[in-house]
Amino acid sequence: MNTQVNKQVVETFSERQTEEFAADLARQLQPGSVVALHGDLGAGKTVFSRGFARGLGITEPISSPTYTIIQEYKLPDERWFFHLDLYRIDNYIAALAFGVEEYLDNPDAFVVLEWPLRIKELLPPHTIHIQIEHIAEESRRITIR
Ligand SMILES: Nc1ncnc2c1ncn2[C@@H]1O[C@H](COP(=O)(O)OP(=O)(O)O)[C@@H](O)[C@H]1O
Ligand SMILES: [Mg+2]
Repeated sequence: MNTQVNKQVVETFSERQTEEFAADLARQLQPGSVVALHGDLGAGKTVFSRGFARGLGITEPISSPTYTIIQEYKLPDERWFFHLDLYRIDNYIAALAFGVEEYLDNPDAFVVLEWPLRIKELLPPHTIHIQIEHIAEESRRITIR
C-alpha cells in the first residue's frame, strides 16, 4: 500500500520550493500513506502540508487545523486527504478519544500529521518520517528518514 520512499536530504530556499518538494512526494505515494512531519514551530510543516495537498490536486486553501485538529479534503474516486495538527493533543489517549485510528487506518486516505510525536504510540510502522529544520530565514533542510 505504501510506495518505498528513499532516504534523502534536500535544502529548500523558499516556501515555494518546500511546497514543490512536498507535491512531488505526494505524487509518488499511494492512498494509505501516513506522513509524519517533525519540526519546531515555524519550521514549515504547514507549508509542506499545503504543497502535499497541491500534489494531490487539492486547490482549496490549506491552513493548519490547530484548533479543529483535523481537516478532511475529499479527492476524486472516494479518496481523502486528512491533515492533522496534534499540537493541542496532550497524548495518544486524548487522540483515541476523537477516533484518530479511523484516520490513520484508512486505506483510501493520504494522511499528513503535524506534531506526530503526540501520538507516537499509534503511528503505523509504515509511517514516513520527515524532519524539517530551520537553517536560515528562507532555507530549510528536509530529511526523509
Ligand atoms: N524554505 C522554506 N520552506 C518553508 N517555509 C518557509 C521557507 N522559508 C521561509 N518559510 C516560512 O516559514 C514559515 C513556516 O510556517 P509553517 O509552515 O506554518 O510552520 P509550522 O507549521 O512548522 O509551524 C512560513 O511563514 C513560511 O513562509
Ligand atoms: Mg503548522
